[in-house]
Amino acid sequence: LNEDRVIFERSPNSADGCLSPPFDGVDFWYVHADAMTPNEALERFEHCLSTDEKDTHDRFVFESDRHSYLLSHVLVRLALSHYLSLPPKCWTFRRGLHGKPSLSGPTEIPMKFNLSHTTGVAVCGVTVGREVGVDVEALPARANMREVAARFFSKPEVELVQKLTPEESDQRSLELWTLKESFVKALGLGLSLEPNLFGFAFDSGGTPRLEFTTGVGEPLQDWRFARLTLRSSYTAAIALQDARSLNLVLHAIELVPPNLSPRIRPLTPNSHNYWTL
Ligand SMILES: CC(C)(COP(=O)(O)OP(=O)(O)OC[C@H]1O[C@@H](n2cnc3c(N)ncnc32)[C@H](O)[C@@H]1OP(=O)(O)O)[C@@H](O)C(=O)NCCC(=O)NCCS
Repeated sequence: LNEDRVIFERSPNSADGCLSPPFDGVDFWYVHADAMTPNEALERFEHCLSTDEKDTHDRFVFESDRHSYLLSHVLVRLALSHYLSLPPKCWTFRRGLHGKPSLSGPTEIPMKFNLSHTTGVAVCGVTVGREVGVDVEALPARANMREVAARFFSKPEVELVQKLTPEESDQRSLELWTLKESFVKALGLGLSLEPNLFGFAFDSGGTPRLEFTTGVGEPLQDWRFARLTLRSSYTAAIALQDARSLNLVLHAIELVPPNLSPRIRPLTPNSHNYWTL
């Protein structure tokens, strides 16, 4: 997702008011938990969930977890409905071998998506035909990033973060972690793929690239990655497959109060592949 290849504008297709599906790249949808109160969200959107989703929703003990689950699954459903003018309830999903959800109906268009949520925010990458993975984590890191690096990072990645000050090291480690999660989620493998078997490096402009994979069998040059920060409180990463020679487009679309309508955000890169929303 090189800066010079990114188009900033996106307007709804005038014929039916729908957004055109992202044939050329990836749309990054997100919603903050404070966009709607838990009661409002339940009232407006509970009926959109499938029976399985409703069961999972009801099992959460804390209201904040139920709210987060509801909003993140509504995010996927609303995003899909903004492209294809079908009701949010209509979408059906299946799970892959390692649990990755994918669309099973009712459209023939090969829309793909991936969801990530953490307390306070949910994000979702949507593409047509190519695999996508996303991950979002709260800033500053809640985990002990030194332990995360020792356990999950490749040797060059450990060396990279060891050279930094403790604060920079935590920040960079969390970015690396989200990049790694976005990659294993794009592949659908989750953490069944050991995160130290592949590694990222950053060029002088800060653009992340996949530097090596061991036993994954993925051509490195097929993959593109982007990093984003949201409200200075979250760091997110997107992995996009089959992006070798395409004129890639990245759009950020936020669901905003009061009605969770989509707002397409102009992206303001502060360095290569690093977007602040
Ligand atoms: C499931 C996993 C793919 C991501 O988990 P996570 O980071 O906890 O959660 P995220 O919010 O990013 O993603 C969860 C969503 O990913 C999707 N998902 C589940 N399995 C997936 C898979 N194999 N591949 C891609 N996406 C998957 C689902 O939509 C899920 O949301 P849902 O359960 O509400 O439907 C996996 O990598 C995992 O278990 N990670 C553990 C994270 C961890 O140990 N962190 C500690 C270090 S900071």
